Amino acid sequence: MEHSDPTRESYDALPYARLVHRFTHPERIARTARLRGFEPAPVSTARVLELGCASGDNLVGMAYGLPEASFVGVDLSDRQIEAGRRRVSDLGLENISLESGDLRDVDESWGAFDYVLAHGVLSWVPEPVRLRLFEVCRERLSPAGVAFVSYNALPGWRFRGLVRDVLLAGAAGGGEPRERVRLARERLALVAENVFDAASPWGRYLAARQKELENESDGDLLHEFLEDQNEAFSLRNVADRAAAAGLAYLGDAQEAYVPEEPVADEVRLALEALPGEIEREELLDVLRQRTLRQSLFVHAGGPARHRADATGVAGPRAGLEITPLSRAILQSPRPRASALARLQATEGSRVTSLEHRNVALDPLAEKVLVLLDGSRTVEEVAAACGWPVAIVEAVIEGLLRDALLEG
Ligand SMILES: C[S@@+](CC[C@H](N)C(=O)[O-])C[C@H]1O[C@@H](n2cnc3c(N)ncnc32)[C@H](O)[C@@H]1O
Repeated sequence: MEHSDPTRESYDALPYARLVHRFTHPERIARTARLRGFEPAPVSTARVLELGCASGDNLVGMAYGLPEASFVGVDLSDRQIEAGRRRVSDLGLENISLESGDLRDVDESWGAFDYVLAHGVLSWVPEPVRLRLFEVCRERLSPAGVAFVSYNALPGWRFRGLVRDVLLAGAAGGGEPRERVRLARERLALVAENVFDAASPWGRYLAARQKELENESDGDLLHEFLEDQNEAFSLRNVADRAAAAGLAYLGDAQEAYVPEEPVADEVRLALEALPGEIEREELLDVLRQRTLRQSLFVHAGGPARHRADATGVAGPRAGLEITPLSRAILQSPRPRASALARLQATEGSRVTSLEHRNVALDPLAEKVLVLLDGSRTVEEVAAACGWPVAIVEAVIEGLLRDALLEG
């Protein structure tokens, strides 16, 4: 099916910035699912599908670290998929394929998947795509499969929606995407710097968002704030949509059990008085002013599971690190950094760690990282950089701490 879509044009014109999303990693999802009493498929050999995968950076990070598992990504933007395919081929990865197409067309010929991911898609697509997204999750999920869906969360996102309104009004006169972003930035600056009451909550909020967006790339600003589609949902609304497609809400992908904030006794009592987990999570969303939700779903009526902690405010917090790193790596005579991170470092300062996190490299780390291909001693790296050995050792230790060294 061919769908002509302004979405495709927008993402082709200004691709989404390179980013991984650690809560989408199947290892992380599996551990959270187990805490919820659900036994998911083994991660090391899992089949993973990502809907709206952009350039596939998120999947590439997983595929690099899980060579026995297999990964399929689909995105409407041909340009992003082509960039992703180049990355896959440069790394010689054979366990991942990236397909250009509409997620609505994902059918049984794609097979079954143990993890289906849709990060940053639900809020940014029109209603027919949203409805189909949940159907595709259910249709493609294996019996022990888990789906991950993230979205802008109500009511907290309404604040960001106000900023979107300001940016959209500014962008209205613009034609091509970069021009729209420039005009939107100009308008936000004009309003934030001249708001009549700068000390008011509105004035302070605008100033803070303007400062924050100064560090955001044009692509991120465009897709986060200026797309035609940008809808926020309550957890209840999303859980109901999923239920209509035959999926049951398993739990939050981000908060395993315990909110980080201390909970006052009166809040605990209020939570306990609520009828269900969804109502409790929604109250916590308000208390946190949560703007993004990351939710897990499984087949409705699937394998029985034991109940998660009722209040969501007690029980052990999970330690969810993905790759345990050994300090023995520091003793390596010829240290080797992740090939993925080395490749990424030749293009910019943002790289993917072996723990599936985004790491921003400083210029020293960037220079050292690309040299750590396992062929050079620390002394040789220092000579190549023209720096003392002690500095290179300190940089390498930092890279180890950021989970960028593999040998
Ligand atoms: C906001 S971006 C999120 C990208 C990525 N998942 C992330 O979170 O970093 C939304 C992505 O969904 C893709 N998309 C939108 N509608 C789609 C559709 N109907 N089928 C496939 N991909 C779609 C866009 O091209 C874009 O890459």
